[in-house]
Amino acid sequence: MLWIFWLVFAYFLGSLPFGLLVAKISCGIDPRTHGSKNTGATNVARLCGFKYGVAALILDISKGFIPVLMASQYSHNWMFLSLVALSAVIGHVFSIFLDMRGGKAVATTIGAFLVLAPAATLWSVVFCIIVIMLSGYVSMGSLTLAVSLPVMALLTGNFGAILLGCILTVLLFWTHRENIRRLATGEENSWKKK
Ligand code: G3P
Repeated sequence: MLWIFWLVFAYFLGSLPFGLLVAKISCGIDPRTHGSKNTGATNVARLCGFKYGVAALILDISKGFIPVLMASQYSHNWMFLSLVALSAVIGHVFSIFLDMRGGKAVATTIGAFLVLAPAATLWSVVFCIIVIMLSGYVSMGSLTLAVSLPVMALLTGNFGAILLGCILTVLLFWTHRENIRRLATGEENSWKKK
């Protein structure tokens, strides 16, 4: 029964539209109607400036990190913790506060996975940053991170996180389907372009 409480708690926390709030408060722009129309840190940075993007990033990471960390004090069951992590990420993608719409869940995924598989997450973030720097595309870095999570969970011996990592890989590719289309057609936004 308490499992349900944690899943609902994680979902509601994940649903909090921090990117939207940061953008509205900092520069008065609704990120759902400007730029890539994403509520995530990348679009907030694009529309309102780098520091506000960082603020949205940290807040969105905390939405994944906090519920999984709290739930891990209650139980160490991998299935349970994976479901709590997934609930937070699902909350971000299908937010109850945004008519079941939301963001692309990279930051919330990082926060949740960081509790369960810290080394795998940190390696994945490093690969993500390298790919962003080399390619100029944040989305390409995000997709690299998505693939790296289960692979690095395996390579760092964190076997309990592999299944969740695979599910998150599929989910992140789905949330980035428009980015993938734009990457394929050469229309994706690059931070290297003026
Ligand atoms: O995490 C989102 C990022 O990968 C892409 O963001 O705004 O360029 O679609 P955006």
